[in-house]
Amino acid sequence: MRTIRVLSVLVIIATLLPLAGCGGGGSKTLKIGVIAPMTGDVKTFGESTRNGVQMAVEEWNAKGGLLGKQIEIVLGDDKNDPAEATAAATKLIKQDKVKFIVGSVASKCSIPISDVANKNQVVMISPTSTNPKVTVADGVLKEYAFRACFIDPPQGSAMAKFATENLGIKTAAVFYDNGNDYVKGLAEFFKAAFEARGGKVTVYEAYAQTDTDFTALLTKVMAEPPDMLYIPDYYNMANLVNQQARAAGFKGILAGGDGWDSSDLDFQAADGGYFTNHYAADDPRSEVQNWVARYKAKYGTVPDALATLGYDAANLLLNAIKAANSEDPVKVKDALAATAGFPTVSGTISFDENHNPINKDIVVLQVKEGKFVHVATLKPE
Ligand code: PHE
Repeated sequence: MRTIRVLSVLVIIATLLPLAGCGGGGSKTLKIGVIAPMTGDVKTFGESTRNGVQMAVEEWNAKGGLLGKQIEIVLGDDKNDPAEATAAATKLIKQDKVKFIVGSVASKCSIPISDVANKNQVVMISPTSTNPKVTVADGVLKEYAFRACFIDPPQGSAMAKFATENLGIKTAAVFYDNGNDYVKGLAEFFKAAFEARGGKVTVYEAYAQTDTDFTALLTKVMAEPPDMLYIPDYYNMANLVNQQARAAGFKGILAGGDGWDSSDLDFQAADGGYFTNHYAADDPRSEVQNWVARYKAKYGTVPDALATLGYDAANLLLNAIKAANSEDPVKVKDALAATAGFPTVSGTISFDENHNPINKDIVVLQVKEGKFVHVATLKPE
């Protein structure tokens, strides 16, 4: 009787084991979670990010995979919403048992994802989330959180420097979404750096993500028209402000941050404007030109910063798993933190003590006749 019971328990365990998939050492594939806005108001960001990660994974798989396994992407959609981001991260970790996550794009999503990942000892690397709070909370490092991009203090400074030194801008108005960590942060960092350079901010006003009519704010701006209007939001919101600013008679320079990088930017409304970004597709470095050619051959378009940094972030992570020679996230996060001089398309990566890449260039692109033209490359300050 007892033998039968022990035996049947063993049979049950044996049947359940393969179902559990284990997600780790025992499973047949090495799973990488990817979280990005695949639907919602900024879905070009999600598509590009997924394409970039996909290219990296295909290249590794073609070379035999990693730790003797093929790499498998498990995709999550955060819809550019922090609550959805938390749900997607929780599902990937608890249900799919992923130990590694690439994502997300928007800082307001990557901040909660990094909290969930850190609590569960899951390594996460955001390709493009630039707000400082993605890797650090109240001055404390989230040990399992990393990013492949520069952060917003130098991004804001770069535009302040370019505007004052290259364009001779003396006055600027700034609008920002009060509920978006990235937008609010970048607005503050730009303002501080611009004022430190002697610039005057004429209007500094908040709006909500649901706002569609900026007439009242623009009336304030036009009372004393500034040289520049800085809108460090994603392309969908920048489109509305840019269109309405021109309609209100604003003749100055429109400017923004990396959130403008989209094929869905309104190129006509933004024409002549400038934005800071992570890479320029016309960079003559062979790493960049080879990457652009490979991406174009597969997807038929020039990769934007989201695709490029998705590729870079995946390579950083996969390289760290290889260096750790293990799927143990404790070892992988240490290997990732120890990354030094690792070549990626957007630059050579070493991490600082806050898991931010050191000394990445910031490029300035101009929106011109339906295209992005590379006009400057700045060192972070
Ligand atoms: N930096 C933005 C954020 O943190 C995301 C972004 C990066 C958008 C690059 C477009 C291009 O929210």
